[in-house]
Amino acid sequence: MPDAIPKKTVLITGATGYIGRRLKHRLLKSSALKIRILVRNRNKVQVSVADRVDIREGSTFDKDILHDALAGVDTAFYLIHSMGSKDDFQDRDRVSAENFRDACIANGVRRIIYLGGLGVRQDASKHLLSRIETGEILAAKPDRIQTIWLRAGAIIGSGSASFEIIRNISQKLPVMVAPRWVRNRTQPIGIEDVLSYLQASIDLAHTGNLIVDIGAEKLSFEEMMQQAAEIMGLKRYIIPVPVLSPRLSSYWLILFTPLPYKLVAALVEGLKSETIIQNDNAARFYPEIHPHTFKQTVADAIGELEHNQVLSRWCDSSSSEACDIKDFDNPAGAILRDTRIVPFANGQRQQDVFRSACAVGGRNGWFKYNYLWRIRGTIDKMIGGYGLNRGRRICGELRVGDALDFWKVVDIKPDKRLLLYAQMKLPGEAWLEFDVQPDQLVQTAHFIPRGVLGRLYWYLVLPLHHFVFNNLARTVVSAAGKTE
Ligand SMILES: NC(=O)c1ccc[n+]([C@@H]2O[C@H](COP(=O)([O-])OP(=O)(O)OC[C@H]3O[C@@H](n4cnc5c(N)ncnc54)[C@H](OP(=O)(O)O)[C@@H]3O)[C@@H](O)[C@H]2O)c1
Repeated sequence: MPDAIPKKTVLITGATGYIGRRLKHRLLKSSALKIRILVRNRNKVQVSVADRVDIREGSTFDKDILHDALAGVDTAFYLIHSMGSKDDFQDRDRVSAENFRDACIANGVRRIIYLGGLGVRQDASKHLLSRIETGEILAAKPDRIQTIWLRAGAIIGSGSASFEIIRNISQKLPVMVAPRWVRNRTQPIGIEDVLSYLQASIDLAHTGNLIVDIGAEKLSFEEMMQQAAEIMGLKRYIIPVPVLSPRLSSYWLILFTPLPYKLVAALVEGLKSETIIQNDNAARFYPEIHPHTFKQTVADAIGELEHNQVLSRWCDSSSSEACDIKDFDNPAGAILRDTRIVPFANGQRQQDVFRSACAVGGRNGWFKYNYLWRIRGTIDKMIGGYGLNRGRRICGELRVGDALDFWKVVDIKPDKRLLLYAQMKLPGEAWLEFDVQPDQLVQTAHFIPRGVLGRLYWYLVLPLHHFVFNNLARTVVSAAGKTE
């Protein structure tokens, strides 16, 4: 019997983000690879994959962790960015890329594969510039380590930021007054094709660095909107007007999409100039990949939404200076609390009440006082928060890190505890906890007020809490066993 070919160890960074999560699922299907992931919070790794991957916990700012994560690695994917951080994101991106490249070299990693943005330096927005700098840093020592740098524009897939903008606008606005840039062309690409390029890059027979621009057909934002509307069976009218500044268009877009201002503004900034591919390396080096048309990728994304198969979303990552979850899974320091205790009716089971708690939000709404939650969501949106329209990834399942309207899931103990952290604009920190005990539900809203304003806010909304939280706890229990 010949010896079995040893498996290559591949490290995926950003494995809890939009691209990384899907890449992890794709590569797990390959029997030739051992998958290791570097994540900032291991609880965000889906239970069903946690025992099939080698998990290392930490960030690229911790050099010891990086060395541990890269030991014995053949190929390392760099799928992270600091875009959600405050204004220092460019500096953070630089340091992160330098740390990563140097740790790869020290550990004898053969190849780095990086996915950056499409576009040229002279027209680049601040965010694209940072993506370009990251690529340059990773590729700066070609004699020591090889880097394959893929560059993509708008990525279209269920839950991707670009798709969510296009889908929401097409669905909600029959007539759209739009800025002139809607006629600028770009080359969108479907998420499945992106994953194919990333996967094929592991074994690509090439020495030396390579920059590969990837994209499907050239389309303007206007054409993308029209084609997406067509797939959804809608007729839409887009009227370009000469004056509509990027800032105004961004404010306008956030009203109709689930995305926050910062992300929309970055995407709009990127659309102001043409972003089309600058080299034919995709066709030369990956002739087996034929990118799907925009229409096909939209149809696939809508199919995934309809069949509850969304694997990752634009809001999966923490999008903040540091990982948002680690410090947030313990509301013990809260000084203001609203607790509701609802005993189970005869025969009600703990696991059914837990499932009922996990079904709140999204299309199911927040029960009798849903309109109050909606008003709160609209206010949140107006003041720059997420509002309610992030909804939820899929109906029947929650995992740590999922966005749930204006909450983020920060802890799940199956059949026992669901903890949500408030990402709405608040003068303080807030959590909503469902502690499911054998015979009763203990639901607690925890609040750490920020200064006098925080306390004032809590006492002002106290009368509303009385109705909203009371109804929420009662309905979660009474609906138990009735949700699928
Ligand atoms: N999505 C797109 O439409 C798109 C389009 C073109 C190019 N790209 C490129 O694709 C790459 C991945 O983007 P994405 O959309 O998947 O991003 P994403 O959803 O925002 O995910 C970012 C990931 O990076 C992790 N991360 C951030 N900083 C880290 C650090 N210092 N150490 C360790 N992990 C860290 C995050 O972890 P937490 O979960 O802990 O936050 C998260 O898993 C980026 O380079 C981006 O420029 C994306």
